[in-house]
Amino acid sequence: MEIVTASAPGKIILFGEHSVVHRMPAIAIAVNKQTTVTIDQNESLTENEIFFNATDYHRSYKISTENLQHDSLTPINQFFLPFCVIIREILSKNNFTIPYGARITISSNIPKGAGMGSSASVSVALAKAFTEFLGSSVSNDEISSLAYRGEQIIHGTPSGIDNSVCTFGGGILFENGNITKIPIPDISIIVGDTGKPRQTKKLVEKVGFLNKKWDFYKEIITAIGSLVRESIPLLENGDGVGLGELCSINHGLLEALGVSSPELNHLVEAAQAAGAWGAKLTGGGGGGCMIALTSDNRVKDVKNAIINAGGHPYQMKFAQKGVSIQKSEKEN
Ligand code: PMV
Repeated sequence: MEIVTASAPGKIILFGEHSVVHRMPAIAIAVNKQTTVTIDQNESLTENEIFFNATDYHRSYKISTENLQHDSLTPINQFFLPFCVIIREILSKNNFTIPYGARITISSNIPKGAGMGSSASVSVALAKAFTEFLGSSVSNDEISSLAYRGEQIIHGTPSGIDNSVCTFGGGILFENGNITKIPIPDISIIVGDTGKPRQTKKLVEKVGFLNKKWDFYKEIITAIGSLVRESIPLLENGDGVGLGELCSINHGLLEALGVSSPELNHLVEAAQAAGAWGAKLTGGGGGGCMIALTSDNRVKDVKNAIINAGGHPYQMKFAQKGVSIQKSEKEN
């Protein structure tokens, strides 16, 4: 019996979160934290049964593929709903039948719900693992759009940047659904987690509301788009000082959009005061994580400053690898 394991990275948004939802360009880069989804045929399950075990989330859930055929998915457990939507989409091409029970084990070392792409990473790894488990290899474009279906359940109107970068890895310039690969700078990145929970969906709604209410607000969104374009040659040249400066400006513009928080501002200011080239919130904001770009000799100071300001620092590396698959035989 075969065991299929797919992995997908987490990500940071370097520039352009929120404005990307309003058709501006944004830059996201995969990081060396990842989700792993393993699927095996399990003897304790009957045919057409799927058992999810999300170990790091301390949740599990069993569902029959028959329940996925109904138009309404309301009775499905909210946490597993995005994953069930992805499975349903894949099974719709398979008559909703699997000839054995499938156990799906999800584990991840990406900070959860903190703007690091944890949900997109699970969706991408799940789409890859489940299609391979059914014996159909599909393109990465298809994996990314399957994952987008899950992201819609969680975020409402996602731009698609998270599922794209978690699928393709490396650095991407994302604009109106188009993806251009960009070089990854060889610089140190420190992620600071405020530990404050927040929901990207609510912050995206807030930006949408203010964008309709105030005419000038659109100019802030457009300014972020211009900043993203100006960052591209700096990425190509690995100009950490310039990129750091743009990070701090982007943070100011995100604060003006109303998506920062006192906790995020505190960590950003602490990192800047400790000598980082620049710092900003990353992802939806309102809590969750910030990033600081820094020279190697300031890494320790920036990490300590984040701790002293009440945050949890992670030193991360940018990662080239996107979604990947491994198959092995189960020992009987
Ligand atoms: O908080 P995250 O990791 O889901 O990042 C969201 C990025 C946004 O631009 C705020 C939303 C989007 O769909 O692009």
